[in-house]
Amino acid sequence: MWDLWLERAKPVMPVIVIDDLDTAVPMAQALVAGGVRLLEVTLRTAHGLEAIKEIKNAVPEAIVGVGTVTSSKDLENALKEGAEFAVSPGFTRDILACAREWGGPFLPGVLTPTEVMQVRDAGFMWQKFFPAAAAGGVDMLKSLGGPFADVRFCPTGGIGPETYHDYLALKNVFAVGGSWLTPKEAMSARNWQAITTIAIAT
Ligand code: 3PG
Repeated sequence: MWDLWLERAKPVMPVIVIDDLDTAVPMAQALVAGGVRLLEVTLRTAHGLEAIKEIKNAVPEAIVGVGTVTSSKDLENALKEGAEFAVSPGFTRDILACAREWGGPFLPGVLTPTEVMQVRDAGFMWQKFFPAAAAGGVDMLKSLGGPFADVRFCPTGGIGPETYHDYLALKNVFAVGGSWLTPKEAMSARNWQAITTIAIAT
């Protein structure tokens, strides 16, 4: 699925925190206007699920997923609202079982070779590498590429406009994620042009 989506979406994924529900749709429109279509709406605020539903209904060009999934219940709830993909900062046996049963694009979070092996064993070849910068960044991903050449990563955590290119240049990285694409100041000022400008520049 990721391959298919990446044919028509930039390989960047904003990690979105919705503080005010009425920002969800204009923010998604602003990102899509700049060619950023893979949107990870996190469950870090109470508005996450509702925002997924609203964006799905109002912005058909967006590919909307759920982020910060920390339980199988989170995943189930987000799928009910129409989330098309799901991302977790880590994984539990329950989440992996629930994601397998669903069968859709789920990125479990990993940080160590052992975790890469655990989720690969469970059938997940596409993984989130988190927190990327704090865990060794580009060098760490290069090292993981040796023994795990078949695994593709989406690094997130501490990545910004100056560094995302370095990650995308790695052959085991299929996309990068982060909050730099939807800065808090632009969101609270409802400065949608600023968000489109960042999306275009990315
Ligand atoms: C995530 O969950 O992917 C991160 O919290 C995003 O990290 P960032 O805010 O450093 O981009």
